[in-house]
Amino acid sequence: MSLSHQIASVISNALENDWTVEQVEQLLEKPKQKELGDIAFPCFTLAKKMRKAPQQIALELSKKLEDKLIASVQVASGYVNIFLDQALITNQVLRAITTDQQEYGGKNKKHEKIVIDFSSPNIAKPFSMGHLRSTVIGNSLANIAEKNGYKAVRINHLGDWGTQFGKLIVAYKLWGNKEKILAAPIEELLKIYVHFHEMAEKDDSLNEQARAAFKSLEEGDEEALSLWKWFKEASLKEFQLIYELLDVHFDSYAGEAFYNDKMTTVVDDLKEKGLLIESHGAYVVELEDMPPSLITKKDGATLYATRDLSAAMYRHQTYQASRTFYVVGNEQTLHFKQLFSVLQKMGFEWSKQLEHVPFGMMLKDGKKMSTRKGKVILLADVIADAIKTAKHNINEKNPTLENKEEVATQVGVGAVIFNDLKNDRMNDIEFSLEQMLNFEGETGPYVQYTYARICSLLQKGNFEAEAFSFSSIGGEAWTIIQLLEDFPRVVEKAFEHADPSQIAKFSLLLARQFNKYYANTKILADDETTSSKLTFAFTVSVVLKESLRLLGIPVPEKM
Ligand code: ARG
Repeated sequence: MSLSHQIASVISNALENDWTVEQVEQLLEKPKQKELGDIAFPCFTLAKKMRKAPQQIALELSKKLEDKLIASVQVASGYVNIFLDQALITNQVLRAITTDQQEYGGKNKKHEKIVIDFSSPNIAKPFSMGHLRSTVIGNSLANIAEKNGYKAVRINHLGDWGTQFGKLIVAYKLWGNKEKILAAPIEELLKIYVHFHEMAEKDDSLNEQARAAFKSLEEGDEEALSLWKWFKEASLKEFQLIYELLDVHFDSYAGEAFYNDKMTTVVDDLKEKGLLIESHGAYVVELEDMPPSLITKKDGATLYATRDLSAAMYRHQTYQASRTFYVVGNEQTLHFKQLFSVLQKMGFEWSKQLEHVPFGMMLKDGKKMSTRKGKVILLADVIADAIKTAKHNINEKNPTLENKEEVATQVGVGAVIFNDLKNDRMNDIEFSLEQMLNFEGETGPYVQYTYARICSLLQKGNFEAEAFSFSSIGGEAWTIIQLLEDFPRVVEKAFEHADPSQIAKFSLLLARQFNKYYANTKILADDETTSSKLTFAFTVSVVLKESLRLLGIPVPEKM
């Protein structure tokens, strides 16, 4: 149970339970100055209800607050300021972390599932920065959900179906070169795709041909299908390289094409429920307060939205999840609003648990990066650059390090992931290789480095986690102990808000505070405090490592 909850319960008792523990906990504050205690309880809300002066309430209450967790209380201008028993709490926190280790801060496993739809790149197109965002945010959310007791189902809803494949087939037949495509599939496919768009601007009949080609793909035409399969396999191979680097895995790669033969069910169901309305030969579902959702085109071809409807129904049957996150850029907000409201109209109560988890754009010089015009920074190149810079740094700072390659990869990848996750996901991020690769300041490598530093300290001190002891680690450690104590709440809140940045910010704060402590305290002092200090350092390392793991960032023991 959290400290604030325990203190709230003591206060609630003292108030003769006129105020629930939850109500009290809501009111608790963390004083800005150390002199004002560790936890403050303002009495102004109570004063209004009880028709008594806040100061009077605070005074009376302060006399009744007795608990082993509380060292002393003071009353000041309507507040009860509570000073906690630091030794007792330090002992509790260190014991909890040394006992639970990486399980610390986690919830008991429940049977509930959460489906997380993330990454979902488009076949025959480069893995864009937007897909990188979805990949790292989604992967981290899956880790965080698991830490909160859920069973996470990671789904890659590949963009492997749609009119763009009609365009590609037409483009390939007109300008494609098999050898070139075999050598560099995505690059070459992108080239002919971009070319298609240029040509189609002048010659609209190309678009007509593309529509027909997609139609024949949907109807199972053999030639079209085999081209499509080839494009898909070649692209997946390239995506796989990125997933391997990032160490991201999926439970399912059922993308849009998977629903091709399942769409009649949706369309029939919509028809039966009287929701399908004809509009210029196409079929739509009318919605309140937003544009209608297009279900089939004039030629009967289905759309992105149709496949998402089908996917939602299929997943509901298959997984029976209690929650679903769609980790997709905020430019698709309308699409998901429409999707959810069509499902609602179909009478599916379960659709209430579907959530769009949006994120901002990756900008280059203030502008959106789009693949269609070929303006794209290839993600694989970005990661490769990050790794190269990491290696350069290692060669400069620690040339004798073993397994340099492996560490450079961990650091480079960590830099890229952290650079994304430290930001509130709704913010647009300006793409800056330089900032991403800055290994000092608010970066992943800084947190990794702090962890590695503690590892070498523990090694020098011959620390063994089993031999937990506690005497005194010095008052400066108290801020850090409070952070460690707070970790379970951070994990909980990060899930509640589907916001990995809370974990990233926490890890930065913890690393910074520890480095400050380390600069002022001799840990290997060789006296009776050493083993306690090592235990303390160990607990910090456990929580740092676990924070990074939740973000999907690997941690080298040495760097
Ligand atoms: N492939 C899509 C894109 O790149 C993202 C798919 C997201 N998931 C979904 N179920 N719609 O824009």
